[in-house]
Amino acid sequence: MAKERDQHPTNKDKKLLVGVIWNFSTELKLIFMSLLVIFTLATLLPFTPSSFSLSASDFRFCISRFSPALPVNITSTTAVNTSPENTTEPEILDRVLDNGVIKRTFTGHGSAAYNFVLMSAYRGGVNSFAVIGLSSKPLHVYGHPSYRCEWVPLDPTQHPVSTTGLKILTDWGYGRIYTTVVVNCTFPSLSAANSGGNLILHATTGDPSLNLTDSIPVLTESPNSVDFSLYSSPEKKKKYDYLYCGSSLYGDLSPQRVREWIAYHARFFGDRSHFVLHDAGGIHGDVFEVLRPWIELGRVTVHDIRDQERFDGYYHNQFMVVNDCLHRYRFETKWMFFFDVDEFMYVPEEKGTVSEVMESLEEYSQFTIEQMPMSSRICYSGDGPARTYRKWGFEKMAYRDVKKVPRRDRKYAVQPQNVFATGVHMSQNLQGKTYHKAESKIRYFHYHGSISQRREPCRHLFNDSRVVFENNPYVLDTSIRDVGLAVKTFEMRTIGDRLIRTRQ
Ligand SMILES: *[C@@H]1O[C@H](CO)[C@@H](O)[C@H](O)[C@H]1NC(C)=O
Ligand SMILES: *[C@@H]1O[C@H](CO)[C@@H](O)[C@H](O)[C@H]1NC(C)=O
Ligand SMILES: *[C@@H]1O[C@H](CO)[C@@H](O)[C@H](O)[C@H]1NC(C)=O
Ligand SMILES: *[C@@H]1O[C@H](CO)[C@@H](O)[C@H](O)[C@H]1NC(C)=O
Ligand SMILES: *[C@@H]1O[C@H](CO)[C@@H](O)[C@H](O)[C@H]1NC(C)=O
Repeated sequence: MAKERDQHPTNKDKKLLVGVIWNFSTELKLIFMSLLVIFTLATLLPFTPSSFSLSASDFRFCISRFSPALPVNITSTTAVNTSPENTTEPEILDRVLDNGVIKRTFTGHGSAAYNFVLMSAYRGGVNSFAVIGLSSKPLHVYGHPSYRCEWVPLDPTQHPVSTTGLKILTDWGYGRIYTTVVVNCTFPSLSAANSGGNLILHATTGDPSLNLTDSIPVLTESPNSVDFSLYSSPEKKKKYDYLYCGSSLYGDLSPQRVREWIAYHARFFGDRSHFVLHDAGGIHGDVFEVLRPWIELGRVTVHDIRDQERFDGYYHNQFMVVNDCLHRYRFETKWMFFFDVDEFMYVPEEKGTVSEVMESLEEYSQFTIEQMPMSSRICYSGDGPARTYRKWGFEKMAYRDVKKVPRRDRKYAVQPQNVFATGVHMSQNLQGKTYHKAESKIRYFHYHGSISQRREPCRHLFNDSRVVFENNPYVLDTSIRDVGLAVKTFEMRTIGDRLIRTRQ
């Protein structure tokens, strides 16, 4: 997938507006100038010396303005330790060390990254919950943020209970301004009376100079709304056998490639499967049209996560998104798959059906899946060039990269009930066994870069079973190509010819 970020809009438009005003008569210029002076004064006024003294209540005001706009009460308690209460002197405490080195200091003011950005909270057991969100990464690297969970029963005769929240940082090392946090709230005991309540997350920054606690209501359960049998009989038949959790989709995705991907996998995983896609701007109008028939059939669910863009995490906050998906659908599916929309799962015919293979892996909570890297620029022209261009992407992109490399990225599948948090290439927070040797049974073909270009992918056509291109060896691998006809027939049979005019 392409990893570039969107370009910033130019300020051409702004310049244009100023230019237009400037071209008016002199009188207008005068009015404009006086307005400018007034605005400038208005902007500078609050910075007169008297307002330089900050009090704790000023800080609180600041913080509450920065707090997420939740429709519920948020209380903040702050303890400001280092900020001088009543000085107008700039607080620069540089000093010269014994060895002559000047020790520079850096003093934070105000509050710029949120303590906690809530995405979701889900019940995950009789006495257990997961809260998923983002938090300022510098805080986690240099402070000691901590979490406490409180369960407040709706019934006023019952007492609230509280427990330490276990924080799981699944994208450790990857986060940018924000890092993904999964807080596991497991209470020593919790009434299963099903009488409703509220889960409150108390998030403490642990920043020595601004140790504040935000109390965030994260989940409300109304009386009798919980199906406790989900947790007491895990063997119960699930709604789905296989659920796909996609990570954030962004960029100018090719509708035709997405059409091919969904048709291929809807057939591959069968009727008892479901696909959850996350739109971080990648599901534009034309892509939505190829998904629409599958959404109408109940095979696909799209989540619009475009608003996470304001919080700069790792590639459109994909770690937060997959963790939300894990906990949201954890009890609805036997297996959950995590891979990308330029990747195609494959089970060799001689290994049996997908369900046979998955049954053989049942003793594992997780297995990783080996990658078959495919070229998305050189194509197989076995049908003649004219017909090649009309083929589907996975039919013509049939050359596999066989260069020896120490390691390639893997993807994975889990039995989600055993998993507490997850990553992009595998989960490291689970109970039970992980298996890394499933490559003879199931693997995936990766058409890197094919999905984010909206034009014919084939740059060069070849007709041999072995090719060296740009000093890189490739072999013809028709594993996926060979099911092309079956996939097209399946699509036609399932949703008709609605997508026949789809473009690259
Ligand atoms: C929110 O706080 C106000 C005042 O502090 C209080 O009157 C109100 O009942 C609270 N609302 C909720 C939902 O707790
Ligand atoms: C700063 O304020 C404290 C009380 O808030 C007062 O005791 C102290 O004298 C003040 N210092 C200066 C330099 O004004
Ligand atoms: C929280 O962690 C405990 C112990 O690791 C686990 O049993 C529980 O299922 C987890 N809860 C959630 C919601 O993930
Ligand atoms: C911040 O406050 C919490 C709870 O009030 C306390 O446990 C913690 O030690 C404090 N941390 C720092 C760095 O002051
Ligand atoms: C490629 O080879 C096949 C037979 O292997 C042949 O039928 C076809 O015409 C060839 N195509 C080109 C473009 O050479």
